[in-house]
Amino acid sequence: PSSSPLKGLRVLVTAGPTQEPLDPVRYLTNHSTGKMGYAIASAAAEFGADVTLVSGPVALTAPDAVDVVRVMTAQDMFDAVADAFPAADITIMAAAVGDFRVAEIAPEKIKKAGRSSITVELVSNPDILAWAGERKRDDGSQILCGFAMETEHLIRNAEKKLTSKYCDMLVANNLRDAGAGFGTDTNVVTVLTSGAEDAGTPKIEHWDKMDKTVLAQRLLLRLAALRSGGASNVDDENKE
Ligand code: C5P
Repeated sequence: PSSSPLKGLRVLVTAGPTQEPLDPVRYLTNHSTGKMGYAIASAAAEFGADVTLVSGPVALTAPDAVDVVRVMTAQDMFDAVADAFPAADITIMAAAVGDFRVAEIAPEKIKKAGRSSITVELVSNPDILAWAGERKRDDGSQILCGFAMETEHLIRNAEKKLTSKYCDMLVANNLRDAGAGFGTDTNVVTVLTSGAEDAGTPKIEHWDKMDKTVLAQRLLLRLAALRSGGASNVDDENKE
């Protein structure tokens, strides 16, 4: 097999959580550590791709030979993706983007004195993956992959995301599976691909638990195969 199966391709990856400020000292976020997205960015670079990694705040070091754009909020992440997406051949959104942000960020620290409760209004953030799905070229030259983390109704929700966000592939992981989810080095995923020939009925595969680094390689080879038009040697070579 070629050691540079993604040579000549531009790969865009989102990773990590977002941080939505509440006041100058506090923010809303989630448990994402960025491991899955960083593993994908790193594997893509090793496979010879030109990689842009749009990363929320994480404790990981940037992979070698990857162009890292650091962001904090979902809106920042949206802006960075909007910049890079048009040139991307394969886009993988592994970030855990905050669905909501604080409507009005307090200019000074919110004080507790004299208050038994406070109410914070949240407004929804742009859905970056859906935005990209609506804009991807329809000649098959741009491949889009989303992730879904669920605690229930995994497949049903993942199918919905695959179609409603116009993804070519959706990688679903259940937070409740042992060896899956936030901060682990392994993941257990179900991979849904929207068959171009058989639109409407996605192909669903349950993959065994594996290291996020191995999973990253397999996903990338699959995505490259989808881009070059379905079944491929690349994929078969990867089965060992
Ligand atoms: O709908 P849900 O948030 O579960 O979809 C998850 C997928 O959508 C992930 O690929 C995530 O990176 C992406 N997403 C996004 N922008 C959002 C919310 C989710 O890109 N605002």
